[in-house]
Amino acid sequence: MPKRVAVDEVAAHNERMWERLAKAGIPYTRPQGSPPKTKAGKRRFLDELTDGSLGAFETHGKRVLCLAGGGGWHAILFAELGADATLFDISSRQLETVRRVARRRGTKLTYVRGDMRDLSVLGNGEFDLVYHNHSIVFVPDAGRVIAEVARVLAVGGLYIFSTMHPVTIRMYEGWTGTGWRFKKRYFDDGPIPIVDPTWEFGKIRVRAPTLEYGHRTADLVKACAGSGLVIDGLWEYSPSYEGGPAGSEDDLERQLPAFIRFRARKIGAPAKSPSAANGSRRRTDPPAPPAFAPPPGYSRPNPRRTRGR
Ligand SMILES: C[S@@+](CC[C@H](N)C(=O)[O-])C[C@H]1O[C@@H](n2cnc3c(N)ncnc32)[C@H](O)[C@@H]1O
Repeated sequence: MPKRVAVDEVAAHNERMWERLAKAGIPYTRPQGSPPKTKAGKRRFLDELTDGSLGAFETHGKRVLCLAGGGGWHAILFAELGADATLFDISSRQLETVRRVARRRGTKLTYVRGDMRDLSVLGNGEFDLVYHNHSIVFVPDAGRVIAEVARVLAVGGLYIFSTMHPVTIRMYEGWTGTGWRFKKRYFDDGPIPIVDPTWEFGKIRVRAPTLEYGHRTADLVKACAGSGLVIDGLWEYSPSYEGGPAGSEDDLERQLPAFIRFRARKIGAPAKSPSAANGSRRRTDPPAPPAFAPPPGYSRPNPRRTRGR
């Protein structure tokens, strides 16, 4: 029985869902495509995968944390481009998939299983880059993740993270026959209700009702500012703009961005008055992160991180 690392029932539930999704082999759980063999080719592949958000970031000799990045190429490519890469995820299967591929390629990574809201196994200022793709949506308290990331980043380090767009996520499954309606108000917290939790990719169909949270843009900006992170890049985008039949996800994503991505740089100590740093209305402030109370059976991630092939 694997040790419990989830800090609450939300994470424990989502962990079970990701184990199920990984078992079914949906695309987010398997490295997609084959990177070229040359360094230049690998960098090109990584730049495409990260939509150019790395900019001129030089990977060689850098310490990179791929947060909640199980099942993907990112950590392997950072390592093969000369970085000291750590892969962190809550799902054993997601970690194992990457470990198998990395072992086959002779690529060394550090693996940590844990909840993204508790990075206590990682020290202050240990990383030059935290790359965090499409997964802050799985926790209710994004501010807590951002504060932890700011702590483990070195001054000058980058945090690149993406999530479901907070407007669009409230509209999926909301086709009325003549237009799109919201399933939830923009100002309301809590998980977004999902009518049909079937993940469908070609022939793969799996029922996995993950708990997902549509973090408001101003709240994410404010959490960054409050943790000493200055945003220097913001992208709103969809995987494709071709559209589809009225009422389909492709139709919605042609009109509104599916994702939002931030790039932020740690400039030092957190701002003294983060509320002055942006225009958030008082009632949209994120709740203060709750004090960490370990649930029954919780054990901190093993500080002896597993390193190797
Ligand atoms: C959409 S996938 C992102 C990884 C993917 N391979 C990619 O394209 O980068 C979401 C990942 O978040 C992980 N996850 C969900 N909740 C988590 C949590 N509380 N802490 C750490 N990882 C979590 C899942 O196990 C899953 O691997």
